[in-house]
Amino acid sequence: MLRTHSCGKLAKKHIGERVTIAGWVHRRRDHGGLVFIDLRDREGLVQVVFNPEVSGEGHEVATKLRHEYVVKVSGEVAKRPEGTENPKLATGEIEVIAQQIEILNPSKTPPFYINEDIEVDENLRLRYRYLDLRREKMKENIILRHRVVKFMRDFLDERGFIEIETPILIKSTPEGARDYLVPSRVHPGRFYALPQSPQQLKQLLMVAGFERYYQIARCFRDEDLRADRQPEFTQLDLEMSFVDEQDILTLMEELFTSLVENVKPMMRVLKPFPRLSYHDAMERYGTDKPDLRYGLEIRDLSDIAAGSDFAVFRSALQRGGWVKGICAPGCAHYSRRQLDELAEFVQARGAKGLVTLPLVEEQARSIATKFLTRQQITEMAMRFGANKGDLLLIVAGERKVMEALGALRQEMAHRLGLADPNLLAFCWILDFPLLEWSDEGGWEPMHHPFTAPRDEDIPLLDSAPEKVHAKHYDIVCNGCEISSGSIRIHTRELQEKIFKLLGYSEEEVRQRFGNLLEAFEYGAPPHGGIAPGIDRLVMLLAGEQTIREVIPFPKNQSATDLMFDAPSEVSEEQLKELHLKLRLD
Ligand code: AMO
Repeated sequence: MLRTHSCGKLAKKHIGERVTIAGWVHRRRDHGGLVFIDLRDREGLVQVVFNPEVSGEGHEVATKLRHEYVVKVSGEVAKRPEGTENPKLATGEIEVIAQQIEILNPSKTPPFYINEDIEVDENLRLRYRYLDLRREKMKENIILRHRVVKFMRDFLDERGFIEIETPILIKSTPEGARDYLVPSRVHPGRFYALPQSPQQLKQLLMVAGFERYYQIARCFRDEDLRADRQPEFTQLDLEMSFVDEQDILTLMEELFTSLVENVKPMMRVLKPFPRLSYHDAMERYGTDKPDLRYGLEIRDLSDIAAGSDFAVFRSALQRGGWVKGICAPGCAHYSRRQLDELAEFVQARGAKGLVTLPLVEEQARSIATKFLTRQQITEMAMRFGANKGDLLLIVAGERKVMEALGALRQEMAHRLGLADPNLLAFCWILDFPLLEWSDEGGWEPMHHPFTAPRDEDIPLLDSAPEKVHAKHYDIVCNGCEISSGSIRIHTRELQEKIFKLLGYSEEEVRQRFGNLLEAFEYGAPPHGGIAPGIDRLVMLLAGEQTIREVIPFPKNQSATDLMFDAPSEVSEEQLKELHLKLRLD
């Protein structure tokens, strides 16, 4: 080894020892005759002092050092002089008195500061990701990710799970996104698809008799990117045989709770995880991904609104819609401009408008007060348990605009700082419908086509598919969907029936799912599983706003890797070998 100790691991117990350390020059200060550097390695920083009286040559080299030079230093660990200790630094009580220094490699001036936690343009960070990863916060995030995955592996290993790899070059697996395709050289005109998830493979592993499988699985989906979506991402994919929903819920709750206790003990979780039906989540929070760190629940005001002459309310109710709202505490003083902003916010999400009702002595400030009686306003306020000084925000609409209200709830909580940053409000969303009617017409699975319907609902598949509930469960945390899973169909007959309902032709079913259906005829055990998204989970644990902050080498918002400049063009020869001709239209 080039060194005897890590910089960040040096401590008082090493005082008087001669050590050799190596790392990057984090900071350099020239104080008259003395030169100080903070030397950084993965474990942290230590102060190194170059005194011309100890080593003239060493001091000379030290005056030439610049940020991010890689150096090796030998010297003696000493107690810092009284009054110069740095309590903010783990090694702040000591310093290394340098006797020798060797520059292992100089560095160009980095394009951004590595030693300061300041905002840097994200594209520049991604272009120089290897420098960005040197920054303290990024390093911590990547180490946290390692600890999360290590904890998961140990936890599942102790419970009899076996880690099994599945192929990346495979066939299309429907998870609702577009596939990434890989052309085959040896089979002209044929393509592999990268897995959107190992869904069918893990089910086949249950047919194969492994009973408890898991994998830290890379998934690939060509879909619109968002803060919590990347084209390739990682799941903790798992599957179990001979279980029901309750077994999986219990296992996952134990995993997540003990994970947080171990890797982020300063964060709290709600125990047990609250359970909400899909219907209740939509009604109370306007989304199936509710943030339960705060209340601000949506309340239905339709019955009160029905008695008013307000045309906006009346027409929504006549169309079979509703009047619903939230109560923003202490916001009655909002200015016209602020209220207009909120109206634009919901309009951008499909609502026709926003009725704002500040609960103040002098009610003249809202147009709603022209059409609502004092009694109706009081009843509405009571429905929220509102106080004077609060602001009621009301939307009249139909099912489609429920999400606008849900987003408004989140926006107000954000403006009011209601979310406790140290709380991880995990919850279960249950009782999903099996199917939803798609915008293009036809039934679509809410989860994926392998999800089992509730046993008692199976007869409804023929008569009223919209009423069939699924054995499907999601884990949501702080407004983000963290995991999805289900008990699966394990008989050919039922699986074929679902494919038919989803509008697949017999030929399509044979081509795309023939192998799975065949496997079901060879003694497939009842089974189910789940797949937490590791990127999203680590993002929440790290307190970050996007998953890009917890992925070592992510793509940017337009699915480009700025460091490698990928995707990139390929040579004519490569295309020829793959039997491909480009048609750029
Ligand atoms: P699903 O498609 O819901 O289910 O995905 C499970 C979890 O994976 C994460 N996730 C993503 N993370 C980052 N970027 C993306 N583009 C992305 N897409 C999904 C989310 C999500 O909750 N095979 C099923 C699981 C099962 O039924 O066992 C599946 O993949 O955290």
